[in-house]
Amino acid sequence: MPERINVNGVLAAPESASVSPLDRGFLFGDGVYETIRAYGGRPFLLREHLERLQRSAERLEIPYERAVVDIEQEVHRTLGDADLPDAAIRIVLTRGRGPVGYDPEGCGPPTLVIHVRPCPVLPPSFVREGVDVAIVEVTRNARSALDPAIKSSNLLNNFLAWRAARRLGAFEPILLNAAGRLTEGASSNLFVARSGRLLTPPLEDGLLEGITRGVVLELARADGLDAGEASLAADDLRTGDEAFLTSTLKGVLPIRRCDGWPIQHGRPGTITRRLIALFDARVQAETKTGSAPGSMRR
Ligand code: PDD
Repeated sequence: MPERINVNGVLAAPESASVSPLDRGFLFGDGVYETIRAYGGRPFLLREHLERLQRSAERLEIPYERAVVDIEQEVHRTLGDADLPDAAIRIVLTRGRGPVGYDPEGCGPPTLVIHVRPCPVLPPSFVREGVDVAIVEVTRNARSALDPAIKSSNLLNNFLAWRAARRLGAFEPILLNAAGRLTEGASSNLFVARSGRLLTPPLEDGLLEGITRGVVLELARADGLDAGEASLAADDLRTGDEAFLTSTLKGVLPIRRCDGWPIQHGRPGTITRRLIALFDARVQAETKTGSAPGSMRR
């Protein structure tokens, strides 16, 4: 059974699973979500993802603790049922069903959906040569509007940016905030290496605190690299020595070109390649199997 969906503890094939049309997740995007990668049947950094899901839910006052089943247990059960070694797991928690209107009174309990599917595989050339990004005109949601630190199910800002990038022939958009500072991709964080320093935009500039981003910062520092947060302008990326994206499904993915211009020589640099290897080793150590999406061993 390659693909399984669990709705509030009930397992089904995708074609027979259903959620109410009165669910606030459907009506308003009033929900939060996580994407987790399983390697060899073991979810990678599950605890960190569940903690972020809970933090996102708290920011929207979605009562996480009122989920009708135990989320962690259901992730393991759905993964076991799908019997997929390399899986992408999506957990969605919405405010649930309720009267139409903004008042959340009378809504709930929260709806929990866990979707397990085969993990999408990146073309090996993306990993070897890097991908193209474009700085798009769609700006990232302001923190005062819908804080990008909340991993909410309302993904139209990300989708519009993604569509703009694809129209420009790029794989991933890079979004600026309203002040013109770099934030992140549509579903990834951004790193730039300049003069031996590894930099990533700070949370204050409005972005998701990516779990892969956190692991990469930790690995880079442990490896003796000068790595940290810094507010960056578009030109810092365009004229960087190296750049890469990070995410659960992309791992550490080199950037080849930005807005059509090669980053340095347009080939993954030393720092990027080192971090791909270190990230892969971390995945191996934690899951005892599998290789990270960006692994050169594929
Ligand atoms: N996206 N920024 C955004 C806007 C994201 O949606 C994601 C993840 C990231 C990277 O976070 P992490 O390293 O925790 O995966 C950054 C997931 C993969 C998704 O949308 O499915």
